[in-house]
Amino acid sequence: MRQKVSQALRIAVLGATGGTGRHVVTQALERGHNVVAVVRRPGSFERTDRLSEAVWSAPTHVAGLASALAGVDVVISALGGAAKGPTTVCTDGIRAALAAMGQDSMSRLIVVSAHGVLETHDRSLYSKAVWSGVAEKMKDKESMEALITASSIAWTIVRPPMLKDTRATGTYQVGANLPIRLWHSIGREDLASFLVEEAENPQFIRGYPRIHR
Ligand SMILES: NC(=O)c1ccc[n+]([C@@H]2O[C@H](COP(=O)([O-])OP(=O)(O)OC[C@H]3O[C@@H](n4cnc5c(N)ncnc54)[C@H](OP(=O)(O)O)[C@@H]3O)[C@@H](O)[C@H]2O)c1
Repeated sequence: MRQKVSQALRIAVLGATGGTGRHVVTQALERGHNVVAVVRRPGSFERTDRLSEAVWSAPTHVAGLASALAGVDVVISALGGAAKGPTTVCTDGIRAALAAMGQDSMSRLIVVSAHGVLETHDRSLYSKAVWSGVAEKMKDKESMEALITASSIAWTIVRPPMLKDTRATGTYQVGANLPIRLWHSIGREDLASFLVEEAENPQFIRGYPRIHR
């Protein structure tokens, strides 16, 4: 485990109960931060110091989210949609988050999107495979990204390849132009580690980091 940071942040996590979101919550707490886990159901997390839950009943509800985000330094979103069929959870959730955060250029939003959207929807095998498998999720990510990039806040859009539930390696690669191949993946724990690190030490403001192990 890395050493705790000297300055604790207040970090809100959207999609906190998901595979990646839970690791973000755990790692942010381990690093000494205060965490607001934004959840659909109360009691999703065991009570612990520096962790509070905010219940957000629907991703379109701005008012509930605005009170959850009050006083927060960084919002990290690991929201994700259903396995099959059309989904708008990322678009709806981020539209609400942007409304709740306002247009302050100091507001910090770090969002998990997906490699293969927009200009990365290319002729590569990776892009073809992901669009033939989860096109609806990719469309949701594209409209989410359009909302984010039209805002004036300090955003970072992380575009991982396939996610896996492998243990943390700490040896992943990150870069704006990292080539992504069909066989590339990133463990959710490593992805969470990068998300918290980017919250602490911003390297990709208004950027699109890619990551793989
Ligand atoms: N799987 C991959 O290979 C892959 C590759 C690239 C990018 N991604 C993207 O990476 C992100 C994180 O993925 P993951 O697999 O870690 O996520 P996940 O386990 O599917 O978690 C999704 C989170 O979103 C929440 N959520 C879903 N629908 C919601 C709704 N209608 N209202 C409020 N919250 C809702 C879930 O809440 P509940 O727990 O309450 O359901 C959960 O906290 C996703 O955006 C995913 O599309 C995935």
